[in-house]
Amino acid sequence: MNILLIGSGGREHALAWKLAQSSKCDKLFLAPGNPGTENLGINTGIGVEDFSAIENLVLKENIGMVVVGPEVPLVMGIKDHLLSNPALSSLNIIGPDKMGAQLEGSKDFSKKFMNKYGIPTASSRTFTFQTLNDGVEYVSKHSLPVVLKADGLAAGKGVVIAQTNEEAVATLKEMIQERKFGDSSTKVVVEQFLTGIEVSVFALCDGENYLLLPEAKDYKRIGEGDTGLNTGGMGAVSPVPFVDEIFMQKVEERIVRPTVSGLKKEGINYTGFIFFGLIKVGDEPFTIEYNARMGDPETEAVIPRIKSDLVDIFEDVGTKTLHKTKLEIDSRTTTTVVLVSGGYPEDYEKGFSITGIENAQDVLVFHAGTSKKEGKLVNSGGRVIALTAFGSHIEEALAKANLAADTIQWQKKNYRKDIGLDLLKK
Ligand code: AMP
Ligand code: GLY
Repeated sequence: MNILLIGSGGREHALAWKLAQSSKCDKLFLAPGNPGTENLGINTGIGVEDFSAIENLVLKENIGMVVVGPEVPLVMGIKDHLLSNPALSSLNIIGPDKMGAQLEGSKDFSKKFMNKYGIPTASSRTFTFQTLNDGVEYVSKHSLPVVLKADGLAAGKGVVIAQTNEEAVATLKEMIQERKFGDSSTKVVVEQFLTGIEVSVFALCDGENYLLLPEAKDYKRIGEGDTGLNTGGMGAVSPVPFVDEIFMQKVEERIVRPTVSGLKKEGINYTGFIFFGLIKVGDEPFTIEYNARMGDPETEAVIPRIKSDLVDIFEDVGTKTLHKTKLEIDSRTTTTVVLVSGGYPEDYEKGFSITGIENAQDVLVFHAGTSKKEGKLVNSGGRVIALTAFGSHIEEALAKANLAADTIQWQKKNYRKDIGLDLLKK
């Protein structure tokens, strides 16, 4: 079968690496792909929002399976677009339709959904331009800290945790009145702050059944010891030691199952990943957010632990037989360390030559923000390369990933050396 994978980051390189290993994968196409996927498939260079070019490619290359990596094309309705072509009505698309992607595309939708189906989450209220005065009144008296979230997609920047009521009022006005995040902040969800430790749980859904994948913990802050600005993710580990069987049972019963059955009750045929951004408060799981895709860099830690054939698993999505799917998991730990451009997540310089990848040993090298300039590999994004190492425990995997991280060089490269170490203290 010919397969198309949409996206260009470290997540997509990891997915491409895994898909290309399947004997069922004939030709793998990427839209657009990155220098790391060049040897795994055919980089088409087609942008993730160029739906008509994607549609033409699917038709021309007789593609039978489309895997959507990032959220933007999902929220824009790539699935609805492709399936509206009668010639593609039986295409197997790994990714929800526009309605299902609202789990990620609208915080207001996802909060209403969670409340309707009794899924534990922080208590919240939503405000708009029409109700701004009520909102100001509400946040000026809210307990602190208080969380303000732009309703729509904001590239991971739409959440503000206000430490004072004045800051909360100013932020609410900035978001709604001054449209700080454009259309994404015409609605704002104000919610209670939850204290605990976060974990990312992933389920693959076929519209009826779900399959849980290994969980992971993501490290979002730029600095060691979880300090400094938020980033797209500086590293990940899988499995997560504090996620034991009892906790996972609670997650499944209270969060995963009601979500999957709730989607069905809403008439949504959800085929694809659900990423549950959870927080463990005491011993209890709460949902911070949903995403309609896999996490990045969590994918780079999770996918290498899956021993089963990923094309087989995705075929089970198409045939709605995930209840029969057996997932074989590597019991070892993976640690993913992300190498970033110096200055990221603020301004950073691009175009520095990257050397030493061929000397990195005992790691999987996933490209994220690299490109080719005059035949040479250079940094072209904030997050540049993700390195994943296996170990019998976090320290062993981390030591290998850090060693490889030192081997790969470009000017002003930066990375965290402490991925996963906080979990050892618990
Ligand atoms: P989100 O974009 O919803 O994932 O939010 C970004 C980050 O803000 C999360 O990963 C959490 O670290 C934090 N956050 C969001 N909502 C809450 C909450 N209700 N309580 C505490 N932290 C939160
Ligand atoms: N690593 C968090 C995310 O993918 O949103």
